[in-house]
Amino acid sequence: MLKSLLCGVLQTRFKLLLIVMATMVVQETESFEQGNFKKCDQSSFCQRQRNYKPERSPYVAVFSSLRSVTDNHVYMDVRNNDNNIPFTLDIYALEDGMIRLRINELSPLKPRYEVPNTIHDVGVQNFLVEQNSQNQTITLRLSTNPSVSAVVVCDPFRLDIFDEQEPVFSINSRHLLKVEHLREKPVPKPVSSITSDAVESVQTSEGVVPTLRSIYCAWFSCPTEEPVKEETELTPEENLDNPEEVETKEETKEDKPDPDDEPGMWDETFKTHRDSKPRGPESIGLDTSFVNFNHVYGIPEHADKLALSSTIGSEPYRLYNLDVFEYDLNSRAALYGSIPFMIGHNAKRTVGLLWLNSAETWIDVDSSEDNKGVLGSVFSYFAGQENVPEVNIHWMSESGVIDIYFMVGPSPRDVMRQYTKLTGTTYFPPKWSIAYHQSRWNYKDEEDVKTVDAAFDEHDIPYDCLWLDIEHTDGKRYFTWDTLKFPNPIKMQDDIAAKGRKMVTIIDPHIKTDSNYHIYREAQAKGYFIQNKDGGEFKGWCWPGDSAYLDFTLPEVRQWWASQFTPDIYKGSTLNLFTWNDMNEPSVFNGPEITMHKDIKHGGGWEHRHVHNMYGILQQMSTVDGQIARSGGNERSFVLSRAFYIGTQKYGAIWTGDNTAEWGHLEYSVPMLLTIGLCGISHCGADVGGFFKNPDPELLTRWYQAAAYQPFFRAHAHIDTSRREPWLYDEQYKSAIRGAIRERYELMPYWYTLFYQSHMAGEPTMRPLWYEFPKDTELFAKDDSFMVGSALLVKPIATASTWATQVYLPGNNGWYDVKSYQFFPSPNTISMATPLAKIAVLQQGGTIIPRQLRVRRCSALMTHDPYTLYVALNTQGKADGEIYLDDGHTFDYRKGVYNYKKLTFENNVLSSRSLNTTALWETSAWLERVVVMGTQQPSTVTVEAAGVTTALGYSFDKNLRVLTIRKPGVNLQKDFTITIN
Ligand code: NOJ
Repeated sequence: MLKSLLCGVLQTRFKLLLIVMATMVVQETESFEQGNFKKCDQSSFCQRQRNYKPERSPYVAVFSSLRSVTDNHVYMDVRNNDNNIPFTLDIYALEDGMIRLRINELSPLKPRYEVPNTIHDVGVQNFLVEQNSQNQTITLRLSTNPSVSAVVVCDPFRLDIFDEQEPVFSINSRHLLKVEHLREKPVPKPVSSITSDAVESVQTSEGVVPTLRSIYCAWFSCPTEEPVKEETELTPEENLDNPEEVETKEETKEDKPDPDDEPGMWDETFKTHRDSKPRGPESIGLDTSFVNFNHVYGIPEHADKLALSSTIGSEPYRLYNLDVFEYDLNSRAALYGSIPFMIGHNAKRTVGLLWLNSAETWIDVDSSEDNKGVLGSVFSYFAGQENVPEVNIHWMSESGVIDIYFMVGPSPRDVMRQYTKLTGTTYFPPKWSIAYHQSRWNYKDEEDVKTVDAAFDEHDIPYDCLWLDIEHTDGKRYFTWDTLKFPNPIKMQDDIAAKGRKMVTIIDPHIKTDSNYHIYREAQAKGYFIQNKDGGEFKGWCWPGDSAYLDFTLPEVRQWWASQFTPDIYKGSTLNLFTWNDMNEPSVFNGPEITMHKDIKHGGGWEHRHVHNMYGILQQMSTVDGQIARSGGNERSFVLSRAFYIGTQKYGAIWTGDNTAEWGHLEYSVPMLLTIGLCGISHCGADVGGFFKNPDPELLTRWYQAAAYQPFFRAHAHIDTSRREPWLYDEQYKSAIRGAIRERYELMPYWYTLFYQSHMAGEPTMRPLWYEFPKDTELFAKDDSFMVGSALLVKPIATASTWATQVYLPGNNGWYDVKSYQFFPSPNTISMATPLAKIAVLQQGGTIIPRQLRVRRCSALMTHDPYTLYVALNTQGKADGEIYLDDGHTFDYRKGVYNYKKLTFENNVLSSRSLNTTALWETSAWLERVVVMGTQQPSTVTVEAAGVTTALGYSFDKNLRVLTIRKPGVNLQKDFTITIN
């Protein structure tokens, strides 16, 4: 019955959720979308941390306790003078100017959660330690980066980080350090001992409210039905509605509020969901100021602008992986992924800060004008300067230890290098995965797949990969096929693969609880599912109905999951089938905030609250292991995940989830992807066209044009939307969409080179303009345009009927329209015509990019095709670039089997020189054309390779000053020189 309901009429998640909710007898009156998710005042730890505003921090570092554990690690005792709880303070000197700060309880009642396996072992360096007993400060200077130092001020504890004597970070200067120590649960007081004082001191927006229950409910959203009582004693909150007892309480007024028993510390309810909090309060909070900065970036995922906005007087940013239905724009609310990494940027330097934590985290950003000069006056560096800006960040996490990594840059590139040394660089995607993907929920059956595949060829539109969503399975049992619709999956994949294309199937983490389903049966027998807080398999609702959830925190579970990807076990799969891990926040339709209860148990004794934001990455990691293992370690993997966390870039791609077919969502895809890229994940994209609703053809066309220049390029749509393959539209739209996709294919050599560089050095492929022009203050909040690598500037059209657009061109190298070759000096704002078929893309003077102009039906068929180089000269007549070539799919590049060439144009000579000399990858690809923009009329052009010089044909456009050199004919893997006289 349920199956037919789910698979038939009621297939949308919205409808399913309503059924589930109805089944659970949940009565909600608020709007479905936003009311499902907490605000800070509905989260007790966020409230406690946010309300904490002492005049002076009670935390004091004990000067005399300083000792060097090793030359690169110093230790001190810290004490909270308010309650005498002792803490440990560890500071580490890391390579490349990085510093790590760690604060933990000295002897916690139980161990506090520490995030495992996320940060790479990086090199260390020594500290040069200077102690000043007079003012009780300790200066720790990095031995190999002596411009970088950390100064510990003992009373109250503060840590300042300097580069070149200039303060860049100040920690706890706002006195917000607050570590809730683990404690015994207070024995419930007899009801009569609770005083009204404690209650009356609580303020709500309406002032003091008359009953205890109403206060409690104002904070914690009391359920309409009482939560199930699991304990025999009644907690004070459970007695709140008993007026007689309230009367009694008011009689005893001497008691003070119990600091171990503040509201929500031991038990908290959101809607009908009770969080039993067996460990009690354990949240951490701390302020970190970015001194002399106006702009900070990062902490995805939010549907927000690139430069983070001040949250004072509004909701903090929230990091808690959630499946959010029809998310709002311009919002600080949590979405599918969480990366607690923040970048500060000013005209002089860029810095980074990683808050290592996997629990729910809220972040206040205060960049208000009132801050100007407050910290500036503390630091002698700013003597005499007024209005030194600062951005104050307040980090608040539900559990864990304080563990922060500081990166002092000083350039954007330096910060990305430092950050990816800690967290890993981008996996090296197989080439096909950075081409165009066609998806929808769902391609119905094998016939549908065949027809869509053929139509791409018929309409001369390239694509590389076709996706199958949840309906391809046997009743949402992943790793299976609906055998009526997909009776011959191997043949289907082989037919697609015969054209050089790939397929992807969806594999979610929820497992249908059906003992006839081999995955469920085996995992259950092995005890691999997450347990309820009181034992027994946790069951939640998702696509298949009742589902169990694998405990990916356990290595043995990950290993077993990985083994499921071998074609022998995943029946009907081939090595040309890749994977999409969706719903892995994890999404639990009947759980609190559509996710898992925080108090349920993972192996190792940790609760879900401790590991929540890591759940998805652990699934993706193990899927990747499985995919690589199935080819004996030869083939690179491709796994798309919806949830993400610190380090996701090492495993695969992500996308921005369920967006909507509206212009605003197209506009916000740019800042969202830029932010995700700055936090390490280079392979990211947004559903082209918008997932929900039907885009009109103009919006769809503009979306294709934007996404053709974004790293992960996939069209996808909700099951309820109309079909929207490009050929279903009038000729003008179809041909503009075809044009956009073909532009992507022409540019594949450049994208592939960028991904190689991102894999090696951690740079984002899609970058904010300020990343390339860090001194131009005009760019610091700019997110309507972006860079692809260093060479291309793209300004997507994200509003209807926009047939011309203003484009700001930074720097002083000048820019060339990639289609017309028209030159524009810079810095400059130009007006560019943008008729339907036009994408505003400009190449920066001083760069060289490779293209392949013979677009075929997929990228694999273009592997050995000829190349064209586009040389855009700067005002000094110079340019440079790189090109990377290999087989596009194996790990042979690790053995040196590739060609990486440096391309340089100077003094009218274009040269290509190998950056690697051994084990070159053999290719017949040759250079068929060179376009030089911004040059003079030549009299001869010659090419020299392997000692042989040959004269070349060319044409020259005097008006545009563009020289087109025909058929240099040299093999791309060889060094060569082209001389223009
Ligand atoms: C949610 C995903 O975000 C969406 O892309 C997918 O189509 C549906 N789940 C169904 O699997």
